[in-house]
Amino acid sequence: MIRWIARLIGFAFVVVLLWALGSNLKAYFQSPPPATAEHEFHKEPKELHLASNGPFGRFDKQQLQRGFQVYKEVCSGCHSLNRVAFRDLHALGYNEAEVKAIANQWPTEVASINPETGEPATRKAIPSDYFPSPYANETAGRAANNNALPPDLSLMAKAREGGAAYIYSLLTGYQNQPAALLKEFPTAKTPAGLHYNPYFANLNLAMPQPLTSEGQVTYAPGNPKPTVDQMAKDVAAFLVWTAEPNLQGRHKAGWPVILFLIVATILAYLSYRNIWAEAKRKVAPVGPMDPANKAKRTRASKKAGIDE
Ligand code: HEC
Repeated sequence: MIRWIARLIGFAFVVVLLWALGSNLKAYFQSPPPATAEHEFHKEPKELHLASNGPFGRFDKQQLQRGFQVYKEVCSGCHSLNRVAFRDLHALGYNEAEVKAIANQWPTEVASINPETGEPATRKAIPSDYFPSPYANETAGRAANNNALPPDLSLMAKAREGGAAYIYSLLTGYQNQPAALLKEFPTAKTPAGLHYNPYFANLNLAMPQPLTSEGQVTYAPGNPKPTVDQMAKDVAAFLVWTAEPNLQGRHKAGWPVILFLIVATILAYLSYRNIWAEAKRKVAPVGPMDPANKAKRTRASKKAGIDE
């Protein structure tokens, strides 16, 4: 009885759930949610092939140096890299003197105090400093950028879906708002002070196009032409490095570790087989414990009317 009541209750639950699903599906198909400009015009990042991609990826130092140059000459005007120190640039192939010079000539000075009066002051950067923000504080950053704060770029390649490809697409994706968009969504016009970019999640971002013309940054001889596309690729590659400077070491260490784990797994399995071989060997029950004999015995006792 109890079992039947339980089944009935269960069945009632199933019916209610199915009914809820059905009515919601009906509502969804009868009046689907209105289309939005973001939904129709947002684009996924373009493909970007970098030397650091894939499980065997390694950094292309030449490209990282170019990317750093783009960061230094263009992006650092608004964005900090507060998890990267000047001395980390050794990894890109700069020597001691070069790193010192880069820190010393950095256009933004770092916060400090006047050693005599204790008043807030600034001083020239040294190699152990982190790449500073050009703004004294968040309010100043917002005030200079239409109330949008330029985010720190250290971990940007990890923070956004698509990583470097997203950054590259964003930098090369500025365009006029398509006429089709305005025709379909007359109210979705890019507000003053924002810039249309189909790779940005809500299509309009506060950053003005930072890379606008070929040759904006002058590359040393022997490097590719500094087209907007090339500069965007290079700075994206540089931001992969800032987000994960130990990527190459991780790739290098990863393969031997995986190989070792595979060998260790095989050894562990073989020793498991070895240790349990004795215990698992099948022991056939004989004599009174043999199931056939047991059955015979039960039948015989039943016949004789003995309760076992
Ligand atoms: C004039 C100042 C300025 C310059 C120069 C500048 N940016 Fe920005 N950047 C901004 C602002 C402001 C935002 C915030 C945009 C927003 O949230 O709408 C931003 C946001 C970003 C974002 C984050 C976008 C997101 O998904 O949230 C990235 C990535 C970025 N900038 C990369 C760069 C790179 C790379 C350079 C150099 C090539 C650069 N920026 C140069 C002002 C600047």
